[in-house]
Amino acid sequence: MLVNVERRAEKPYKRGMSAAPVPERSTEPVVRLEGVRKSFGDNLVLDGIDLDVSAGQVLTVIGRSGSGKSTLLRCVNLLEPVDSGRVFLEGEEITRKGADRNAIRQRIGIVFQQFNLFPHLKVIDNLTLAARRVSHMPRKEANARAVELLERVGLPEKAKSYPHQLSGGQQQRVAIARALMMRPHVMLFDEVTSALDPELVGEVLIVMRDLARDGMTMLVVTHEMQFAREVGDWLVFMDGGRIVEQGKPERVLSDPKEEGTRRFLRRTLTLAHSLEELESVEELTIDEEEGGTE
Ligand SMILES: Nc1ncnc2c1ncn2[C@@H]1O[C@H](COP(=O)(O)OP(=O)(O)O)[C@@H](O)[C@H]1O
Ligand SMILES: [Mg+2]
Repeated sequence: MLVNVERRAEKPYKRGMSAAPVPERSTEPVVRLEGVRKSFGDNLVLDGIDLDVSAGQVLTVIGRSGSGKSTLLRCVNLLEPVDSGRVFLEGEEITRKGADRNAIRQRIGIVFQQFNLFPHLKVIDNLTLAARRVSHMPRKEANARAVELLERVGLPEKAKSYPHQLSGGQQQRVAIARALMMRPHVMLFDEVTSALDPELVGEVLIVMRDLARDGMTMLVVTHEMQFAREVGDWLVFMDGGRIVEQGKPERVLSDPKEEGTRRFLRRTLTLAHSLEELESVEELTIDEEEGGTE
């Protein structure tokens, strides 16, 4: 599914790699993966992933269903242990034995396809719960931060609403605000617009674009090629647990060098054009799996 971010925003926004205004921070990548391998049983899901995300960079990951994208993010967030290889966060190896996983996770925000909001809690309480319980942030401070973040995602008037009173796009914006509560140093997004009706995709992408503009370091798994092109600094194409091709989004999308990338893009773009009414990328994914591309 293609969404024209440009059409919805006043102006297209281009982030040059050199434009990232982070002079004081070290040149250490915020996230680094070295030779990460991961299997489930005898299913090799990540087959030696090397990846760097530097401060202020937006790295987008594309690839067909089952290629290991979600597992990659889950390994960065320590939701899955790696079998071998190492993951670093701001220079510190977080896959080492004895690493403080809770402290590490506070520096990493993650947003999933499903919003996972607590249905019985008001929006504001969804935002403050973990901050108060896990980080013992005083209620007043947590509330102030939550209000500020709801404003940032364009939902200041929804603080007292319950999740079911919001649209999917609004719920996903709340989920993004919630992930920002702990002032993460990097944000991971796993196909966060894939479950949304097409007309709600843009509002979420705009929140993400603005976050990128503000200098957030982001690792974004997406099917939104327009977003990857306009907001991403670097694009990685994954297939079968490997990085098959990577480069500037513009280059990879318009001039893919690898046959696998070409095939994936051809299929994705053809489907997006021919099935404009397609309600969810889920269907697209199923179709791709059933049809096969070999
Ligand atoms: N918790 C798990 N247990 C067993 N297999 C898994 C688990 N998570 C993912 N897989 C398998 O790993 C492969 C990659 O999955 P995933 O990382 O979700 O890919 P993607 O996000 O690119 O669709 C798939 O074959 C999937 O079935
Ligand atoms: Mg996935």
